[in-house]
Amino acid sequence: MDTSDIEGDLSSILYTEEQIHQKIAEVARLVERDYAGRDPLLVGVLKGAVMVMADFARELRIPATMDWMAVSSYGSGTKSSGVVRILKDLDSDLHGRDVIIVEDIIDSGLTLSWLLGNLRGRGAASVEIFALLRKPEAATVEVDVKYAGFEIPNEFVVGYGLDYDERYRNLRAIGILAPHVYS
Ligand code: XMP
Ligand code: MG
Repeated sequence: MDTSDIEGDLSSILYTEEQIHQKIAEVARLVERDYAGRDPLLVGVLKGAVMVMADFARELRIPATMDWMAVSSYGSGTKSSGVVRILKDLDSDLHGRDVIIVEDIIDSGLTLSWLLGNLRGRGAASVEIFALLRKPEAATVEVDVKYAGFEIPNEFVVGYGLDYDERYRNLRAIGILAPHVYS
């Protein structure tokens, strides 16, 4: 099965690889301006943010370091449980660091608001968020996302790191998962 076959599980493509890269480049220009001379620490949230981090970090033309955290707020379904657990913690000391959380998507906002509080409590000089996708209709808690990519409809999306039951992360595009796949 190649990735063109699994695109048949999408009811529509929301963003192509080119559109995603264009957006990431736009955000990188803002971050370069805001963080000039500050060596930000990019904190990627596993596993969904792997593709965003890989492309965003390489697009940045300022020094930056990367670290990773794995948290869980979802089971294998499509609804947020509201319970956040750390599955893998950072290796870095955050004291005095300018942290940018790199996320694939903000849905209810529960994961990111919890993460913001957690990282701020570790003595970081600043903590901001870059989320490639945002579902504005789904927000149950207000989260200040400094760098937001695309606003998307309140649908379950996959591709470019985003999964349904661990599948579809390797799609280059982002699309809406067809209901026949999960119903
Ligand atoms: P909350 O609701 O806490 O959710 O903001 C954030 C996390 O939930 C996952 N998520 C999705 N994953 N397609 C996915 O593949 C989606 O449409 C979707 N909506 C939320 C994601 O892991 C994110 O980090
Ligand atoms: Mg996920």
